[in-house]
Order: sequence, then structure tokens, then C-alpha cells
Amino acid sequence: MEYKLRKAEPRDVSDILRLVKELAKYEEMENQVTLTEKDLLEDGFGDTPFYHCIIAEIQGESSSDVASDLKVVGFAMYYFTYDPWVGKQLYLEDFYVTEEYRGLGIGSDILRHLSDLAMKTRCNGMMFVVAENNESSIQFYKRRGAEDLSQEEGWRLYRFGKDSLVKMASPSEE
Ligand code: COA
Repeated sequence: MEYKLRKAEPRDVSDILRLVKELAKYEEMENQVTLTEKDLLEDGFGDTPFYHCIIAEIQGESSSDVASDLKVVGFAMYYFTYDPWVGKQLYLEDFYVTEEYRGLGIGSDILRHLSDLAMKTRCNGMMFVVAENNESSIQFYKRRGAEDLSQEEGWRLYRFGKDSLVKMASPSEE
């Protein structure tokens, strides 16, 4: 099975949102996805992108029109962040391959691509969060050397939701 990894382009936002929703469904949290294609377009492809995506695309079998028969079957969303102790980090957000195409090496290839990018940009690590019940992915990451920082260092993940932000923000920012 031939596939190609490439950087996402504005035309990919509907496929990105489709895969974001598939992953959220896999995590049984699909109803929490409020993002729209418009958000993805504005946030990822303007002057200051808030995220980047790498896309895995296969050639379909049905059509003679090669260009129209490409299918996006996996992706990783990532951005760069900064750790005040060690410096630049690559942060891996959504990482997903459609069920039918899992186990073929696409996920490992995406991680290779991101590792190359991390090396090129002199990042010191790749951070990510995994749901504790996602045992198959935890094992996938551990086989590649990932450390469980919650267990080893006791960190817990927190968030200020929009309501809390509104309460803390200056009234004029509401
Ligand atoms: N499904 C999943 N994994 C399978 C498999 C199957 N049908 N068949 C075999 N595997 C094994 C492979 O042998 C391989 O083992 P290895 O770790 O010893 O190399 C591993 O599982 C999959 O490797 P690979 O084919 O390179 O990755 P992938 O294309 O399946 O993508 C994930 C990996 C994690 C992105 C993909 O499994 C996925 O989308 N999972 C569901 C969503 C998810 O949990 N995402 C991560 C959220 S943090």
C-alpha cells in the first residue's frame, strides 16, 4: 500500500476536521469538538499559524483520474512550545490513522517525520498527552521510548476553561 506524507494545505481542512472528529469519537469525547473548518483555516494558515499538520495520503483504487482519487487516512497536528528548563519542544497534539490503515507503518513514519523536524529545529523533546485508558497507544509510545511523566514526576494536567478566563480577564476583554 503506497502512501505519501505531506504538509497540510488550506484545502485539507475538511479532512483534518473529519479525522479530529474520528479521534474524538475513538476517545468517546466526540461531543466536545466545537471546532469548525473556518477555525482550522484561520488558525493554521494565516501569518502566525497556531498549529501545523502532517497528512498521510493514499492513492485510491477506483478512478483513472489520479489527482481526484487521493484519500487522507491519517494525520498529526503539532506545534512548537518552550520548556523553561530545557528549551524548545515539539508538542504532538492529535495523532490518528484511520482504523483500516493501522499497523502498516504510517504512524511510525509520521513520528519519524516529526522526529526529523524536531532534530532540525533543535528541539529537546516531543511532549504529548494520552488518555490513561488508551492502553494500545500507551504501549505504542512506550515501545518507542516515551516516559510517563505523570507517574514518574507527578505532574497533573490543568486547564482554565473559558468561564474562568472571563472571570479573571479585564471587563473590557469580555
Ligand atoms: N491497529 C493498530 N496497531 C496495529 C495493528 C492494527 N490493526 N496491527 C498491528 N499493529 C501494531 C503494529 O505492529 C505496530 O507495532 P509496533 O509498535 O511494535 O511497531 C503498531 O501496532 C502500529 O504501528 P504503525 O503501523 O507504525 O502505526 P499506525 O499507523 O497504526 O498508527 C496510531 C499508530 C497510534 C496513530 C494508530 O494506531 C491510531 O490511530 N490509534 C487510534 C488513535 C490513537 O490512539 N491515537 C493516539 C492518541 S494519543
